[in-house]
Amino acid sequence: TQRTLVLVKPDGVRRGLTGEVLRRIEAKGYTLVACELKQATRDMLAQHYAEHEGKPFYEPLVEFMLSGPVTAAVFEGERVIEGFRALAGATDPTVALPGTIRGDLGRDWGLKVQQNIVHGSDSEESSAREIAIWFPGLA
Ligand code: GTP
Ligand code: MG
Repeated sequence: TQRTLVLVKPDGVRRGLTGEVLRRIEAKGYTLVACELKQATRDMLAQHYAEHEGKPFYEPLVEFMLSGPVTAAVFEGERVIEGFRALAGATDPTVALPGTIRGDLGRDWGLKVQQNIVHGSDSEESSAREIAIWFPGLA
């Protein structure tokens, strides 16, 4: 079985969408194993987004992720990494399909960074790395 790290990003928390996002993941059948409202630090985000360092959206992305608390959660289940990314929809919320979290709840706000409500790990390697950043105590 797999685990994935889900973040309700600061836009989602500010808009009061934490419950809606967690509800969809639980309704799909995945099991919540950890959940906490957290203020990210620059250090955590440098590790979390290491693969994007140097890209034009990197600095705005880090500033956005520091702009307020995120809801960090770990979900478990068979193929949950792939399953959550299907629930989340495409990175760009304008074209994310209706029925997905980003497609139903997100849009382009004309800002430098895509504010797309959620993050989900993209591989088993990423999920292990990301869970260690956000939940260092989790077994
Ligand atoms: P995450 O689940 O957040 O990792 O999204 P993702 O895997 O769909 O996207 P990716 O890892 O490629 O990018 C991380 C985040 O950077 C995205 O969720 C967006 O917030 C932002 N981002 C990615 N690509 C672009 C882009 O081309 N332009 C802008 N402005 N922001 C981007
Ligand atoms: Mg990603």
